[in-house]
Amino acid sequence: MAKFRALAAASLTFLLMAQEPPVPAAGTGRGAGRGGGRGASGAAGRSPDKFSQFIRPLASQDVLVRGKSLYEGNCASCHAADMRGVAGKGNNLLRSAIAMDDQHGELITANLAKHNPPLNLVAADGVAVSEYIHGVLATMGAQGSPPGRNPVGLNLTVLVGDPQAGKVYFDAHCASCHSITGDLKGIGSKYASPIALQNAWVAGSAGAGGRGGRKATVTLQNGQKIEGTLVREDDFLVVLTLADGTRRAMSIENGWPKVDVADPQAAHKKMVLELDDPHDKNMHDVTAYLATLK
Ligand code: HEC
Ligand code: HEC
Repeated sequence: MAKFRALAAASLTFLLMAQEPPVPAAGTGRGAGRGGGRGASGAAGRSPDKFSQFIRPLASQDVLVRGKSLYEGNCASCHAADMRGVAGKGNNLLRSAIAMDDQHGELITANLAKHNPPLNLVAADGVAVSEYIHGVLATMGAQGSPPGRNPVGLNLTVLVGDPQAGKVYFDAHCASCHSITGDLKGIGSKYASPIALQNAWVAGSAGAGGRGGRKATVTLQNGQKIEGTLVREDDFLVVLTLADGTRRAMSIENGWPKVDVADPQAAHKKMVLELDDPHDKNMHDVTAYLATLK
C-alpha cells in the first residue's frame, strides 16, 4: 500500500509537471477567473486583489494537504488535477462561480450532492476539499505574481511541508550521497518551480534526460571488465564508448559478456518505493527544505 501511494504520488508529480498549462497571454490571466470572464475584457478594470479568493485566509496546511488528496481521489478524474476540467467529464473549477463564491465548503458540498451520481463526502472532507480548491484559486495570478504567469498555482500545494522536518529527513536519508554545500548547493534556485524541484529529487535527475549516456560495465567471460558509456544494448550486441572516445562493439552469445548498466536514478527509485509516506509528508517536507536552499 505504502509503495503504491508513494509511486502514485511520484507519478502524479510528473503528470502535473507535464501538464503545466501554457502561459496565457499577458493581461488575461489575472481576472480570467470570476464568473467565467474570459480574455482581456473579463479582466478589465478589476483588481484581483479585491476578490475574496485573494484576500481570504488560507486554511491550515494539514487541511490543504488532506483536501489535496481528497481532490485527487474524488474529483481529479473529471475536473483534472490542475482543475481546468476534463473535456466531456467535468468543467473548469478555476472559472467556477460556485467555487469562487463558496466560503468554507457550503456551496461546493451542496453542489456535490447535485452531481450525477451524487458525491457524498463527510462534512469535514467537503470542507477540506473546498479549502484546497480555494488554496489553488488564491494563487491564480494573485498579488505579487506577474499577470498570467501563475497558471494554476499548484506550487502552493507542493510547498506545504515543514522545512525543519525536511532537514532532519535529508540528513538521515540523503546526506550520504548529497551535500547542501556541494552538489546540491543552491538547489532551491535551480528549478523554476517547487513542482520541478520535487520532480527532480523524487526522480533523482535534472529531468529532460540531458545528462549524457548511462555508464555501463561489460564483464567478459575471462573476467576482464570494460567500462564505458552505453551506446546500444540489445539481446545480441552491446556497444560502448570508451574513456578515450573510441567505440567498442561486442556480440553477446550464451549470456556473455555480462552487461551492467548503472542507473543513476536507481537510488531515487528505490527511495520512492521505500518511502513509507501515506500522506506524502516526508516528500513535502523534503521539498520544503530543498526550496530554502537558495
Ligand atoms: C464523474 C465526474 C465528476 C466528478 C468525480 C466530480 N465532478 Fe464536479 N462536476 C462534474 C460535472 C459534469 C459538473 C457540471 C455539472 C453541471 O453544472 O451540469 C460538475 C460541477 C462541479 C462544480 C460546479 C461548477 C460550476 O461552477 O458550475 C463544482 C464546484 C464541482 N463540480 C466540484 C467537484 C468536487 C469538489 C468534486 C470532488 C469531491 C467533484 N466535483 C467531482 C463532474 C464531476
Ligand atoms: C545512494 C545515493 C543517493 C541517495 C541516498 C540520494 N540521492 Fe539524490 N541523486 C543521486 C544521484 C547519483 C543523482 C544524479 C542522477 C543523475 O545524474 O541524473 C541524484 C540526483 C538528485 C537530485 C537532482 C540534482 C540536480 O542537480 O538537479 C536531487 C535534487 C536529489 N538527488 C535529491 C535527493 C534527496 C532529497 C535525497 C534524499 C531524500 C536523495 N537525493 C538521496 C544519488 C542519491
